[in-house]
Amino acid sequence: MMRTAMTVLAAAGLALSAGAVIAQDMGDAKHGRVIAETICAECHSIDKGAPRSRNGNAPPFEAVAKTRGMTPMALRVALRTPHQKMPNLVLKNAEIDDIIAYMDTLK
Ligand code: HEC
Repeated sequence: MMRTAMTVLAAAGLALSAGAVIAQDMGDAKHGRVIAETICAECHSIDKGAPRSRNGNAPPFEAVAKTRGMTPMALRVALRTPHQKMPNLVLKNAEIDDIIAYMDTLK
């Protein structure tokens, strides 16, 4: 089921941002780690080799990073869409790029 959701997200990402994607792969992974620690670590485990999130429903970032189909584009869509129990999480585009760059280091 999770996988289906990811696929749908990936497809939505394609439809939404085809063309705008190519130049966006340039986030700052170090800054992404800082943002993750500040905002996301409350629920997600954000480091490599840390398989348990504080919020049991929140997937560890390493797992997110390794999910097939969780491309930068799909992540971008996921991070723009408020998800369950993550109300009011609004990230700037640059912050999203940084988090994506950080996630990329967890693969
Ligand atoms: C208040 C708790 C909480 C915080 C804070 C939080 N998350 Fe989540 N997150 C969750 C839960 C619970 C799930 C799984 C359920 C869902 O997807 O709605 C999740 C799922 C995800 C997923 C999986 C994709 C998806 O949409 O299903 C990603 C990626 C993600 N979070 C990224 C982040 C990032 C990046 C941050 C920080 C900027 C963050 N989360 C902060 C609780 C949280």
